[in-house]
Amino acid sequence: MKVAIVKNAEEGSKLAAEIFIEQVKAKPATVLGLATGSTPVKMYKLLAEAYKAGEVSFKECKSFNLDEYLGLAPEHDQSYHYFMKTQLFDHIDIDQAQTNVPDGLATDIAASCQAYEDAITAAGGIDIQLLGIGSDGHIAFNEPGCSLACRTHSQVLTQQTIEDNARLFFGGKIEEVPTQAVTMGIGSIMDAKKVVLLAFGAGKQDAVVGLVEGPVTAMCPCSALQYHNDCIVICDEEAAGKLQQKEYYKYIFSQTGVSNI
Ligand code: PGA
Repeated sequence: MKVAIVKNAEEGSKLAAEIFIEQVKAKPATVLGLATGSTPVKMYKLLAEAYKAGEVSFKECKSFNLDEYLGLAPEHDQSYHYFMKTQLFDHIDIDQAQTNVPDGLATDIAASCQAYEDAITAAGGIDIQLLGIGSDGHIAFNEPGCSLACRTHSQVLTQQTIEDNARLFFGGKIEEVPTQAVTMGIGSIMDAKKVVLLAFGAGKQDAVVGLVEGPVTAMCPCSALQYHNDCIVICDEEAAGKLQQKEYYKYIFSQTGVSNI
């Protein structure tokens, strides 16, 4: 696992955007794994700016998003379909027919999840997966206690996640946050060729410790990434605040940069 500790979310977003832009330049038909939430918003802005400046094109890319709330239509303004369209897809040249987000309205959820997995496989697998992290250590909507091998599935959300999401979305109305979601599993995420995880702010401190230095345990699903062989964690000073080896990670980063950590 590579750990890049940066000053703030601004710097972290810049670094993440650079990694994605380099990836797409090197392989224009990149299969992108994308995330929602407050964390990637700035990075998506930077990708849109880079596209507008003629620095990169996404027209040959395909994308797969991590998750979607169960029961929300793609047009719902709190759905992850809507988030992706308004935060990124409408501002770059990706072919929107090649963008995929799990179906929150599926009647046969198991079949829909299997179809999502099959579509990722048919696309050749995810080349680069972006992740945020929940304050409880979830990635995508894989909540504490979930299987570390699971594939795309439906998941009942924890009270913590519902509260976290109401704070930032749904106008703060907790009763409007759906209680279930469809999510790529830890097993699906582990299959991505490269993983870039972003963690910003003091609220993510405990999750980051579990991710980087904690035992691998279902109680902290992100800890499974310790077994991924190309995972970079980009966190700001606040999110890194409780890492035991913080100074060592900074030293390595100063010596070798992202590519060789
Ligand atoms: P956030 O959510 O980016 O809104 O903090 C991250 C997550 O829950 O994965």
